Amino acid sequence: MRKILKSGLILLPAFVFLTGVIGQQVGEVSVILNKPVAEVQPTMWGVFFEDINFAADGGIYAELVKNRSFEFTYPLTGWRQDRDNGRGRLVPSFYSPARPSNPHYVSVVVDPGKGTFGLINEGFRGMGIKKDNQYNFSVFAKLTSGSGLKMNIELLDQNGDVIGGTMIEGFSGSWKKFDTAFTATRTESRATLRLVITGKGTIDIDMVSLFPSDTWKDRTGGLRKDIVEMIAALKPGFVRFPGGCIVEGRTIENRYQWKNTVGPVEERSMIINRWNMEMRNRQAPDYFQSFGLGFYEYFLLSEDIGAEPLPILNCGMSCQYNAAEVVPLDELDPYIQDALDLIEFANGAPTTRWGGLRASMGHPGPFNLKYVGIGNEQWDEQYIERYREFEKVLNQKHPEIRIVSGSGPSASGVYFDYAWAELKKLNPALIDEHYYMPPEWFQSNASRYDNYDRKGIKVFAGEYAAHGKDAEAPESRNTWLSALSEAAFMTGLERNAEVVHMASYAPLLAHIDAWQWRPDLIWFDNLKTFGTPNYYVQKMFSTHRGTNVIPVLQSGKPLAGADSLYASGTIEKNSSGVYIKLINTSSKVKPVLLNITGASLEKTGEISVLRAGGLYDYNSASDPEHIFPSTDSLALTGGKLNLKLEPHSANVVILKYKRLK
Ligand code: AHR
Repeated sequence: MRKILKSGLILLPAFVFLTGVIGQQVGEVSVILNKPVAEVQPTMWGVFFEDINFAADGGIYAELVKNRSFEFTYPLTGWRQDRDNGRGRLVPSFYSPARPSNPHYVSVVVDPGKGTFGLINEGFRGMGIKKDNQYNFSVFAKLTSGSGLKMNIELLDQNGDVIGGTMIEGFSGSWKKFDTAFTATRTESRATLRLVITGKGTIDIDMVSLFPSDTWKDRTGGLRKDIVEMIAALKPGFVRFPGGCIVEGRTIENRYQWKNTVGPVEERSMIINRWNMEMRNRQAPDYFQSFGLGFYEYFLLSEDIGAEPLPILNCGMSCQYNAAEVVPLDELDPYIQDALDLIEFANGAPTTRWGGLRASMGHPGPFNLKYVGIGNEQWDEQYIERYREFEKVLNQKHPEIRIVSGSGPSASGVYFDYAWAELKKLNPALIDEHYYMPPEWFQSNASRYDNYDRKGIKVFAGEYAAHGKDAEAPESRNTWLSALSEAAFMTGLERNAEVVHMASYAPLLAHIDAWQWRPDLIWFDNLKTFGTPNYYVQKMFSTHRGTNVIPVLQSGKPLAGADSLYASGTIEKNSSGVYIKLINTSSKVKPVLLNITGASLEKTGEISVLRAGGLYDYNSASDPEHIFPSTDSLALTGGKLNLKLEPHSANVVILKYKRLK
C-alpha cells in the first residue's frame, strides 16, 4: 500500500492519514475545477532584463572582445601591448567628426626587427572558448604606412599557448572590414586574443570583434545560446528591458537612449554603464554598454521566445538616488517623441522613418509592441507630473498601447501611497511595484493582493526578490529559503491574477566573476550557465501557468500561510491541464488531502517537487543542480489525492481533467 517515490515523497491511501497513524493532522484542501475565479494573463510570468552584473556585454551578448572599438574612457582599457623582441607602439587616435558615434581607433606602429609586436585583448574576465567550435573574427583596418603587413589572430590559453587562430592580409589605404573564421583546438574559460602584426609600417584598427559561431539561432554577432536557452525555458510571457535603474542613468546624460542602440553596431554610441561604480564594494571601471545588444535585439529576443516586449523608457528624470536631475516640463517633448518613435520603430510600416530602420535591420514586419513603461523607480510629484505629460500624448496618438507607470522603489510607504493615489486619477494600464525584501516578508505577504480593487489599475510586480543573509560565494545569496519564500508569495500573485497581470523576479542575470548585485535569477561564467533555486521556482509557476485561476481552499479560505501552507491553482483550458501549487514552509511534513471536484480526472498525474537539504543551500557553479525539481507519478482515486508534503518544499501537482462539470 505504501509507495516511496524517488523524491522522498510518500504516498499513502487516505485512511492512513485520516486515522492519524503518524500522528499528524491531515489538512483537507478543496480544489474546485469548474468554478474558475479569474483569467491568468499570458503575460503573468515574465523576465526582467537589465544590463547589470555584466548581463549584456560579457554576458548574453556573445561578443568576446572588451572595448572592441576603443571607446572606453581610457581607450586602451582591456588591451595591452605584446612584444617578443619586436618594436612598436599603440597610439589611441580620434577621428571625429567623420564618425561621431565611434570616433576612436588605434594606430599600431610596427618596426619589429627580428621579433614580433602586437596587442592582446583580455576579454570580459577572459574569453570562454570551446574546443572544435568555430570563432568569427572581424576588424576594420586601414594601412597608413608601409606595405605587406599581416595580422596573425591567435587565441591564447592561460599559459600563453595558442589554441586557435588564422591570418589576414591585404590591407590598403582606406578603411575596410575584414572577416575571417577559425576553429579552437581546446576549451579554455579565460582565453585572451592576441593580434600579432608582422611587417613594417602603421596600421589603424577599429571594431575588433570575435564571436562564437554557435550563437542563439546561429545569428552572426548574436546572443549566447546557453543563456538564451535558460531564459526561453521559462516560457516567459514578457521581456522587460532594458532595466531598471539603467533606464534612468545616474545623470540625464547617462540615461538609456534607445535610438543610440539601433542601426549598424559600429555606429551605435557606447556609454559607461551606470553600474560600473555604483556599488562601493563591487566596482567595475571597465563596465560599459556597447549596445551590441540594443532595442532591435531585445525585440527580436522577445519574439523568438514568444514573449511580449516591454520596453521601459526614461521619463525625463535621472536616478533619484544619484543626481536626481529632472528635465523641465516644457523641455519634455524630445523624451515623449522618443516614446512615439519607439512605437513607430516597433510597429510602423517600413515606409515610415523608424519602421524603415527596423526593416533595414532585417525585420520588415512589425514587432507588435503592446506595452510601454514610462519611468522606472521614480517618485513624488516630479514623477507624476512628467508621467502625466507622456500619458496625455500616448493615449491620444496610440490608444492601443498599454502604459505601465511606476510606484517608486518600495513596496509601501509615503511615496508608494502617493503614486497609487495620483495614478488612480490617471490612466495607466498597469502600475509597476518593486520589492526587495527579506524572505519573511514574502512569506507574510502572500495575501498582499487579496484586497486590491478587482476593477482598478492592474499590477505589474516588476521587480522582486527575497534578500536574505550574505555569504562569501557569489551565488550563495540565492538560498533555498529565499526561493521557498518567493514560491509562497507567488501563490498569492497567482491567486490574484485578476489584479496582477505581470510579474518578474529581478535581476535576471549575473556573471560569477563580475557581478554588482545579488541575488539574481541565473548565474553564468564564460562557459556555463546555471539556474538558482529561485529560477526553478519561477519555472515551476511559469511553465504551469494555466489559463484560469481555480479556488484552492481550506475551510473555505485560501491557503496563505496559516500553518505554514500556501497554495494556488489554475486550469489550462486548451490542454485540460490542472496545476496545483502547494508550498510547505515549515520544518515538518504536512499531510494534505486534496479533494478535487468539478470535473472527472484522468487517473494518473505527476508531482514536481523542489526541496533542499537545508534552508541555506544554494546551487553553485560546481553543483548547479543541487536544488533541482524531481518528478514523480501520482495515482488518483475518485478525485482524492493524499500527499505528504515534505518539509520546506515547493510542489506542483499536475493533472488532467476529462470534462468540466
Ligand atoms: O534590479 C536591480 C535594481 O533594483 C534595478 O535596476 C532597480 O530598478 C532596482 O532598484
